[in-house]
Amino acid sequence: MLTSKELRQKYLEFFKSKGHAILPSASLIPDNDPTVLFTTAGMHPLVPYLMGQKHPEGARLANVQKCIRTQDIDEVGDNRHDTFFEMLGNWSLGDYFKKEAIEWSFEFLTSKEYLGLDIRKLAVSVFSGEAENNIPRDEEAAGIWKSLGMPEDRIAYLPRKNNWWGPAGQTGPCGPDTEMFFWSGEGEFPPAGSNPATDEDNWLEIWNDVFMQYNKNAEGKYEPLAQKNVDTGMGLERTLVALNGFADVFQVDTFWPLIQKIEEVAGREYIENMAVTKSMRIVADHIRTATMIMGDDRRVAPSNVDQGYIVRRLIRRAVRHGRQLGMNTNFCDQIALQVIEIFKDVYPEVEKNKEFILLELAKEETKFRNTIEQGMKEFEKLLNGFRIAFEKTGTHITEISGKQAFKLFESAGFPLEITLELARENGLTVNVAEFEAAYKAHQELSRAGAEQKFAGGLADHSEVSTKYHTATHLLHACLLKVLGPHATQRGSNITQERMRFDFANPQKMTPEQIKEVEDLVNAAIQKDYPVSWQEMTFEEAKEKNAIGLFEDKYQSRVKVYTVGDVNEIAKADPSAPTFSREVCGGPHVEHTGMIGKFKIVKEEAISAGMRRIKAVIE
Ligand code: ALA
Repeated sequence: MLTSKELRQKYLEFFKSKGHAILPSASLIPDNDPTVLFTTAGMHPLVPYLMGQKHPEGARLANVQKCIRTQDIDEVGDNRHDTFFEMLGNWSLGDYFKKEAIEWSFEFLTSKEYLGLDIRKLAVSVFSGEAENNIPRDEEAAGIWKSLGMPEDRIAYLPRKNNWWGPAGQTGPCGPDTEMFFWSGEGEFPPAGSNPATDEDNWLEIWNDVFMQYNKNAEGKYEPLAQKNVDTGMGLERTLVALNGFADVFQVDTFWPLIQKIEEVAGREYIENMAVTKSMRIVADHIRTATMIMGDDRRVAPSNVDQGYIVRRLIRRAVRHGRQLGMNTNFCDQIALQVIEIFKDVYPEVEKNKEFILLELAKEETKFRNTIEQGMKEFEKLLNGFRIAFEKTGTHITEISGKQAFKLFESAGFPLEITLELARENGLTVNVAEFEAAYKAHQELSRAGAEQKFAGGLADHSEVSTKYHTATHLLHACLLKVLGPHATQRGSNITQERMRFDFANPQKMTPEQIKEVEDLVNAAIQKDYPVSWQEMTFEEAKEKNAIGLFEDKYQSRVKVYTVGDVNEIAKADPSAPTFSREVCGGPHVEHTGMIGKFKIVKEEAISAGMRRIKAVIE
């Protein structure tokens, strides 16, 4: 059995022996990319260096990076999806390229000193090429694999969907890749002709070597990078599943102690039945991820905005599934302690932030349990209404209408899943389609980033608030321009008297920077730009360079506000035809001239790396 500790150690040791500097894991919260909430791959924190900046540790780097991907959050519960994972990676910054990258990958996988895998159980894929973008089929990579003894029939040529990687955000470095797979089908060895193109389901991807030769620019064009890089990523959990022959990812040693803890607290068995197994997986995954986010160097508490909103959702979903397992008193802290135990030697910050994690978890869990109780009272009233109706009319109501379910959601914060659960227990059904229609209508009014960013922040929709709200967009765009792409919004609050805007920045702003931002905002006001909005898909918004985009799948359609010309790329420059573009629910003024004069009255720290601006309009 290969353990997570052994795999991390072997990997780093191997790349150290090949002249790589070993870096610590970067924060889970990216500081060079405003377009995503979390670090999604090991290359993510290295983007400036992949773009040509010199790295102080040299041109060969390797590390184990903590990563989060939440797009598939609803899939968690099956045997393979998880939201937090570790990525082993090695990089060449304009140093070695395809030959060494592939040879070293092969050596690490097959050499007895390292993983010692049998080549007969390995297969690879390479990029099949793209005539329209002038990118050839990767015969070079295939040739290198063949020279190492990889049989022809184990090499799959696959298109962009499979063998292209990046960029991690909406722009940045990307390129074709070659992926390595381990046999997971029946029988000791795969049959002749089997490879990831012919027999996809029986091959498990374990490693990806990306050849970063291109930069995708804001116009969506691929321009060759002056510096050719290698970016590789090996999923730690996945590789352990493949190599140890586990039936699911929860048997990996960075998960299994959590499942055992849950079994103990709930007094149930993981394999009791599928519903139990699924709920246990969700609790384990979600508390693990929430703990890692809260225990990151940046310390994120549950909230209604950005990363905090994801933490809140994870905890609440875990509590909901915990209740289904019969865990009716606070349990999250016990699971979190186990998470800290698992990771404290690899990511010491989780241990350092233990008190914070436990306190915030307890607060959130208690609050959510109270919400559930409050909702239960409302639910009881509803049932009572059904009873009275029966006594009066003799008809049985067997369905909770969508409107009633929505009311429980809106007024008592009762998630639909709980209404469904209670309905089932009481022999009732719920009109889910009607609920969803009501939910969607509500979303259109209040959501698309706005719920995240302004929930409880926008005091009312009066004229003054609306002016402040548009000023917030101007300020956000100007901060990104003056301070850099890391200076993204972390919170906002508007009253009749002032606006407050929280953003990421490592230092205090200089008086010159404050003046420059103020002047840029006022110049945009004087230009009297039109303000308009369009609804579009998440992808379209990305292409249009909208800010405030997060990898939250609930925003598959978003409302995007543009200050200035809708046909251009947003620039945050008063002379540019499009000044700002941001995902937001509104409302906004019709043109910027209505705002008045903008003045920053205070710039202060709120926590490490977080600043707050207070500003007024006169
Ligand atoms: N960045 C590449 C990946 O995530 C290695 O697969």
